[in-house]
Amino acid sequence: MTVTRAQMANRGEALHSPEFSRIIAGFWRVKHWGMSDQTLLAFIERVLELGISSMDHAMVYGSEEPFGKALALKPALRSEMEIITKCGIRPQGFGELGAQAVNHYDSSKEHIIASLENSLRMLQTDYVDLLLIHRPDFLMRAEEVAEAFEQLKAQGKVRAFGVSNFTLQQFELLQAACGGSLITNQVEFSPLNMQSLDEGLLDQCQRHGVGPMLWSCLAGGALFKVETEQARRVVAALNTVKEEVNADCLEQVVYAWTLALPCNAFPLLGTSKIERVEQAVKSEKIKLNREQWYRIWEASKGFPVP
Ligand SMILES: NC(=O)c1ccc[n+]([C@@H]2O[C@H](COP(=O)([O-])OP(=O)(O)OC[C@H]3O[C@@H](n4cnc5c(N)ncnc54)[C@H](OP(=O)(O)O)[C@@H]3O)[C@@H](O)[C@H]2O)c1
Repeated sequence: MTVTRAQMANRGEALHSPEFSRIIAGFWRVKHWGMSDQTLLAFIERVLELGISSMDHAMVYGSEEPFGKALALKPALRSEMEIITKCGIRPQGFGELGAQAVNHYDSSKEHIIASLENSLRMLQTDYVDLLLIHRPDFLMRAEEVAEAFEQLKAQGKVRAFGVSNFTLQQFELLQAACGGSLITNQVEFSPLNMQSLDEGLLDQCQRHGVGPMLWSCLAGGALFKVETEQARRVVAALNTVKEEVNADCLEQVVYAWTLALPCNAFPLLGTSKIERVEQAVKSEKIKLNREQWYRIWEASKGFPVP
């Protein structure tokens, strides 16, 4: 009898091979961090010590090369981490994979494989743990993507697959073509942007037994600039809850708020400051009650639930 991922989730069985840390370190901004290879290595080692073993990249971030150089200083670390990367965005201009006249998306088998091979070279590793299609491609042929995934898995170059920023329908389409093997949809989610919740993407993840990965949980830093009325309301609510749950900082409340979602979400961090990573991991111990969770929801919307 075939057991679906949702049935496994109900039974509480392990869904994912490989396993990912509940909080994930994101390296999108690494090119702006100005760290030497040695300093980046020290950052990665401390992140691992703190229990964050999953590291998020994408071909278009330009993060793979510096990360690979840091990792090359201590290759034994590779087996202690899970590396996530993404493919499918082809920016205008001359990139690693040739000249492009216009920004576009490419989920052809040829591009997926070429992009992954390039990522492996940049990361100085011979496999990644998770490969995501970065953005939905309007010209995507689901069977062709599934074929590329099968080939990369059979070659041992990728351990698991998923998508990012996919709509409900696009996820259903590719999940069916891949025989239910996609393990995540990486989507934006923060108290300033709850679109993935409103659109049912997080419910869909729960139904498929798939843990969504959440990007820009701190709204890319906008929570600390407080430039809009919405941000003012949200920050006030977060500060009230922070006092109630004895959190050390506002970020801990945000991450606890994402961890309270019933879909088993995996929040991504984006910070370059190790002390902020140290604060973030403590949020796993903070539990919000329903009333606190909805107070943040209400502050975001500007009105109470009907
Ligand atoms: N799949 C996708 O399409 C997609 C899109 C975007 C991002 N992502 C992934 O998600 C990860 C996280 O995204 P993100 O970087 O936007 O995350 P974020 O956590 O929302 O924003 C990080 C930014 O907030 C700043 N920040 C954090 N704590 C702060 C504080 N207490 N005070 C002031 N500023 C603070 C950080 O600066 P400091 O460095 O100074 O702390 C950094 O510039 C990325 O690295 C990437 O891996 C995926």
